[in-house]
Amino acid sequence: MSKSNKKYIIANWKMYLSPDESVKAALAVQKKLRVARGVEVVIAPSALVLRELAAKLGKKNVKLAAQNIYWRDFGAFTGEISASEVHGLAEFTLVGHSERRYVFGEQNRDIKKKVAAALRSHLTPVLCIGETRDEKDFGETSEVLYDQILGGLSELAAEDIHKVVIAYEPVWAISGNGNARPCSVEDLTESVRLIRSHLNHLYGKKISENVSVLYGGSVKAENAGEFLAVDGVDGLLVGSASTKADEFLKIIEQA
Ligand code: 13P
Repeated sequence: MSKSNKKYIIANWKMYLSPDESVKAALAVQKKLRVARGVEVVIAPSALVLRELAAKLGKKNVKLAAQNIYWRDFGAFTGEISASEVHGLAEFTLVGHSERRYVFGEQNRDIKKKVAAALRSHLTPVLCIGETRDEKDFGETSEVLYDQILGGLSELAAEDIHKVVIAYEPVWAISGNGNARPCSVEDLTESVRLIRSHLNHLYGKKISENVSVLYGGSVKAENAGEFLAVDGVDGLLVGSASTKADEFLKIIEQA
């Protein structure tokens, strides 16, 4: 169960849109957006357009996220972007997305430093966790979630844990990865129960109820409502369906 009174609907545009398309889509979302109170709408576009979108969207109804950060603040790190560089342009950052873990080899030892770096720069980290298809088939979901929660949060002081948002994204449900299929309501209910139970075990009841837990993986306008209705789910992290402004707006309407 969740005591969070906020719902997050976050768009992860990955590498799907060009800079011009990103600006156009974000402005189209903002223009037509009518959000209920307590719903935070966030877009994680290409880092190339964060500055332009920060200026164009202003501090209004659409917030921005980075898709990734590096954990050092500055230095000789070719190709990386620090949390402190993102600070001022975005309020959130994804951390440990499964594409970062499995395509780019990120490990918990990197991810925990990124979560800490995000908070140091006053960004809300959205820590992505989730099992692969093999891990699910071998019955390892609970252990994987436990390792990724502990692995991602172990650098934080106890009083900072509630500032993190957790996104449960089973790798087998993410589109673009072969035969992806959305999580069933039963599987999602069980995984969210496991996540909150692990948080309870590690950090206590209050934190387990207060941390926001989102779902991501093949979310579309037609299934968003079912996922949002699952006990303990505080929002959605949407990939490909969020790149079309009208479909993303329909998803937001259900929050
Ligand atoms: P899809 O919604 O395209 O399956 O992607 C989910 C995701 O990875 C969001 O971070």
